[in-house]
Amino acid sequence: MPKSKSATKKGKRGTSKTPSRLVVVSNRVPDVKDGRVQAGGLAVALEEALQNEGGLWFGWSGKTATGTPGEPKETEVGPVTYVIMDLSRKDYNEYYNGFANRTLWPLFHYRLDLTSFKRTFFSRYQAVNELFAEKLAWRLRDNDRIWVHDYHLIPLGECLRRRGSKQTMGIFLHTPFPAMEVLTYMPAHRALMTALSAYDLIGFQTENDMRAFTDYIEHEAGGKVTKSGKVEVFGRKFRVGVFPIGINPSVFEGPMDPKDLAWGRKLREQHGEKAWMIGVDRLDYSKGIPERFQAFERMLERYPGFRNQVSMFQITPPSRGEVAEYKEIRHELETSAGHINGRFADIDWVPINYINKSYGRDKLTLFFRASRVGLVTPLRDGMNLVAKEFVAAQNPSDPGVLVLSRFAGAARELKSALIVNPYDIDEVAEAMARGLEMPLDERRNRREEMMKVIRSNDLDNWRDTYLTALAAAHQGD
Ligand code: UDP
Ligand code: G6P
Repeated sequence: MPKSKSATKKGKRGTSKTPSRLVVVSNRVPDVKDGRVQAGGLAVALEEALQNEGGLWFGWSGKTATGTPGEPKETEVGPVTYVIMDLSRKDYNEYYNGFANRTLWPLFHYRLDLTSFKRTFFSRYQAVNELFAEKLAWRLRDNDRIWVHDYHLIPLGECLRRRGSKQTMGIFLHTPFPAMEVLTYMPAHRALMTALSAYDLIGFQTENDMRAFTDYIEHEAGGKVTKSGKVEVFGRKFRVGVFPIGINPSVFEGPMDPKDLAWGRKLREQHGEKAWMIGVDRLDYSKGIPERFQAFERMLERYPGFRNQVSMFQITPPSRGEVAEYKEIRHELETSAGHINGRFADIDWVPINYINKSYGRDKLTLFFRASRVGLVTPLRDGMNLVAKEFVAAQNPSDPGVLVLSRFAGAARELKSALIVNPYDIDEVAEAMARGLEMPLDERRNRREEMMKVIRSNDLDNWRDTYLTALAAAHQGD
């Protein structure tokens, strides 16, 4: 059981002799008390990264308070102190559901059609960042390294600096960064970009994302960027870099709990000898799930030999369910799965097993390993950890095939996947069929190539490379 500890409001001034502590700040923090399954790359990856390094993790509790939220709660679990705070209902609506998930998320994923620009959202976004800064500032030690994560907290660094924070401070954006032309649709673009310049280091998933950012700096803000990533703009100097996030592959390769293995065997028996294709995504319009269903339908039309032979599993935990656009996609997927099953299902075959719940690591590994094809076809994605997890989970002597969208950050690294344009339904249908029929040698070679990249750029490497670059950036190197 986690040990709870109440904090005093004195704060602790670290000296140069105290070892530097890592302070991670993110909107989403795993639910440490319940040990619940997390669906979402950020929380999953940071949980592992921080367990090794130890330190403090500050963020939202995932809960809303009736009335004014109380002081943040502190809990120690192993080497990590979690400090989590509730949000008021208004903050939840206008900061989390509002500016974060109805403005920045769709905009950063190139969905201008779904992007809402409301001044009240932006002012609440700034107010919540200010609140985070207020609750965090007095807990900081002088030689802490502060690592902020993702689009929810872009202004946090600036808020802390205004309060006198001189610590090393970096941010990593887990999402894509949009092209200048797309970003400038947002009325608050300059305020947001100015806020980013308060950090010592801004990390991106891919070269593309970083290029989009520096393009804005040079062509919209009149700043300078050197080849080595030094930026001068808005009267500030900082650095940018590319740090593609990785996974810990041994988690997916290693031996499993016998109970989970038995569960996997039973599941497999229920489905007989049919081949499986699998998709695992939060229920989000950026993941391209409706297009994936259409591609599966097209495959069944064009290659009738696969009827009654192949089932698709789509594991889709609900996400951001109070946002209208997420309600709509949920409805759309239910209709689409129903339509395809109605059209093709047989007494002994359900074409699409559409499941709206989340699974833990071991069960996901079993699903991945039992599948001949992994479908990772987002319309746009920062990285997509599921792509790497699917490959790592494969049996090396009889691996499955990854079908991967060119618009996922992972496509920059996993070049031996079957790379597709998710908007091209025929191309995805052809890749599905090719994956299902791919000869063993080719499957093995492709997986081995991808595993080289996954192993060499694993989660520890991501964390260490970022933190080394952050230290150098703070010293002005
Ligand atoms: N995940 C999980 N259980 C589920 C579905 C997803 O643990 O039922 C995890 C998945 O293994 C991955 C993360 O959630 O580590 C999703 O990360 P990804 O980068 O693929 O997408 P995101 O949700 O961050 O957009
Ligand atoms: C993506 C975002 C994360 C977010 C996660 C889950 O990975 O980059 O910042 O935490 O989705 O979304 P949620 O809204 O549940 O935190």
